[in-house]
Amino acid sequence: MSAQTQVRRKTVRDIAKAKQGDPLVCLTAYDAQVATLLDPHCDILLVGDSVGMVVHGMASTVGVTMEMMILHGQAVMRASTQAFVVVDMPFGSYETNSDQAFLNAARLMQETGCQAVKIESGICATTQIAHLVERGIPVMGHAGLRPQAINVDGGFRAKGRTETEWNRAIEEAVAADAAGAFAIVVEGVAPDLADEITKAVACPTIGIGASAGCDGQILVTNDLLGMTDWVPKFVKKNADLKSAIVGAAETYAAEVKSRVFPGAAQTYKLRKAADS
Ligand code: KIV
Repeated sequence: MSAQTQVRRKTVRDIAKAKQGDPLVCLTAYDAQVATLLDPHCDILLVGDSVGMVVHGMASTVGVTMEMMILHGQAVMRASTQAFVVVDMPFGSYETNSDQAFLNAARLMQETGCQAVKIESGICATTQIAHLVERGIPVMGHAGLRPQAINVDGGFRAKGRTETEWNRAIEEAVAADAAGAFAIVVEGVAPDLADEITKAVACPTIGIGASAGCDGQILVTNDLLGMTDWVPKFVKKNADLKSAIVGAAETYAAEVKSRVFPGAAQTYKLRKAADS
């Protein structure tokens, strides 16, 4: 590829334009093959800590480690050329203090080559967000339902049912914005609350289970692709990969058992040559 035709990776400046322009298209990505397919269609690819549940079968994101995020971040970076890639900071990697947050965020950026990190913890991590941004690390915030807090909340529960929860979600977003976050994921809140948050902050909001009025949308890609029967209410399945995979495996099993596979088209036609 010549220098002139080389695709330019998006930057925080492109992401900021969404506040006035077209909504940001964002999806999660965890591996190279899927990242290659999503990359041309997305402004942001998020290597989310949802990888723990989606790829590794964990019950929550709490057990996700830095090593897991680095491995999946590297795969997504190798396979993408134009999307802005954000890697999630896992539970326990940033809450202690700003030094801990910087060392781990810098490691994520240096070892994966990603453009930014996401910090899920709301108000308690505002100092860390400002510390990272001042030192050259773009940070995406996260307000509303925070899956890393599942054990405090007693499950994955939408936020904003009470006045306290409503105000807390706004405070989280406003604090992340004031600390310098370049965008904020707003998860699992009523549309009115998401719209209020979007108006209250200067940076773009990216909704998941929130509102079409957000400055962008994100989904867990495996939900969008229909890899499972159950998906959260806010997901619109745009494919049925579960049926496609089950069908392919069933056909393969039947053809192996009946010796239809491998057929002539799948076997090498080599002629034995005399030994020299
Ligand atoms: O971990 C993740 O995939 C996320 C998205 C759901 C926003 O945080």
